[in-house]
Amino acid sequence: MILPVVLYGDPVLKKRAEDIVADYPGLQDTIKNMWQTMYGASGVGLAAPQVGLPIRLFVVDTIQLAEKGRKTDGDIKKVFINPVILSEEGEEWKYEEGCLSIPGIREDVYRQQKIKVRYLDEDFTEHTEEFQGINARVIQHEYDHIEGILFTDKLKPLKKKLLLPKLNKIMRGEVSDIDYRVRAYKK
Ligand code: NI
Repeated sequence: MILPVVLYGDPVLKKRAEDIVADYPGLQDTIKNMWQTMYGASGVGLAAPQVGLPIRLFVVDTIQLAEKGRKTDGDIKKVFINPVILSEEGEEWKYEEGCLSIPGIREDVYRQQKIKVRYLDEDFTEHTEEFQGINARVIQHEYDHIEGILFTDKLKPLKKKLLLPKLNKIMRGEVSDIDYRVRAYKK
């Protein structure tokens, strides 16, 4: 089932999400719905808060980027549950990021090149793995989501100020030119 994507301005996106247990109700359905929602919106990653769930879960598929003719370092399609970034290293590099919760805005964001992550997969099997390049980038972006951080929070204050009119529109649900369902926060 495709779920509406929560838009910028919803407090669930600003909240640190909680770890889940293996018998979290409807977990496999939630994961399935998140994949469908992500693909339906042509995203490469989606975090649970973006579908309104304050839990530490996100999905990533960078294989699609390779299909679009871009070079990636060993494409991945993975579910991350209760992840912990154990280390980040390397020079910061910039990449133009976007976010399904902030449609129409893309900005350069600086992040380190390599990360080591400990996480549980959809079967609750624990893994510790290193990722780099675009894989690390997408994981860092999604990880920020479960920490309550958006890529716009990482922009220089002036840049963010310039984006405020656009962000306010998104907050009010005034988004156009997107072909996926969204949900603005109602106070
Ligand atoms: Ni995002």
